[in-house]
Amino acid sequence: MNHIDELVRGRRSVRTFDANPISQEDLDKLCAFMKQIDNPYGLPVEFKLLDSKKQNLSCPVVVGTDLYVGAKMKNTPYLNEAVGYSFELLILYAQSLGIGTVWVGGTMDRAAFEQAMELAEDEVMPCVSPLGYPAKKMSLRETMMRKGIKADSRMAFGELFSDGTAPLTEESAGKFFYPLEMVRLAPSAVNKQPWRVVVTENTAHFYLKRTKGFHGGTLDMQKIDIGIALCHFDLAAKEIGLTPRFVQADPGIATEDEYIASYML
Ligand SMILES: Cc1cc2nc3c(=O)[nH]c(=O)nc-3n(C[C@H](O)[C@H](O)[C@H](O)COP(=O)(O)O)c2cc1C
Repeated sequence: MNHIDELVRGRRSVRTFDANPISQEDLDKLCAFMKQIDNPYGLPVEFKLLDSKKQNLSCPVVVGTDLYVGAKMKNTPYLNEAVGYSFELLILYAQSLGIGTVWVGGTMDRAAFEQAMELAEDEVMPCVSPLGYPAKKMSLRETMMRKGIKADSRMAFGELFSDGTAPLTEESAGKFFYPLEMVRLAPSAVNKQPWRVVVTENTAHFYLKRTKGFHGGTLDMQKIDIGIALCHFDLAAKEIGLTPRFVQADPGIATEDEYIASYML
């Protein structure tokens, strides 16, 4: 893969595709990659390619491709965080091949997609993404949508990350800066950026700052967002030669946010 920084900064949601089918070579690479994806929770995620035309699937925000990938897994605790991590690995890999994607958890005919994914009784389908080459120009609908959710902006570093008492800066974050900056630039549902990280000594503790109106249930888009953040942090930390160790141990820091997991460097 390319530098994480390049992939993270180069990625944006793609909802308007150029109508050319993905080359067999790229498709083979994607399929090979899907088979070896894992996540720190050790929960298997199965990916399946779908054809929206043949299978009659509707995802109204997307134009210019019929190819989709869906993710399914067992309905178990931490499924959202796990799929967030695993699906984001796929999204970044697609990005490295020049293939456009967009996380879709809401704006689709969910029942039709779930049927096409052939879910077993104990399985869930958290999300899907179209796959294709990005069109040169976005549809008007996509342009309007991006404006509406301010998709191009992100919160400031110090608003998201702290040392427990003071906001972190590039200097005070030290070796945590690059991995955290990669978290800051991550995609999130409706661009709400619910990830908060508290750094203590050599550990980054990830918290969920729940957005009003975004309820957690079996499928929890904001916990998926935290899984994406864990993925960016882990990849970026490894890239600069650190050895992040995943732990689930609430440090008991006083906060209203929900503790999710930590990376110890
Ligand atoms: C968990 C999750 C679910 C999402 N669901 C949808 C969706 O249903 N429809 C959609 O158009 N975009 C969806 N998005 C894309 C976000 O709106 C997008 O990532 C965010 O606005 C930031 O824009 P960017 O990806 O271009 O950086 C989702 C993103 C995430 C992470």
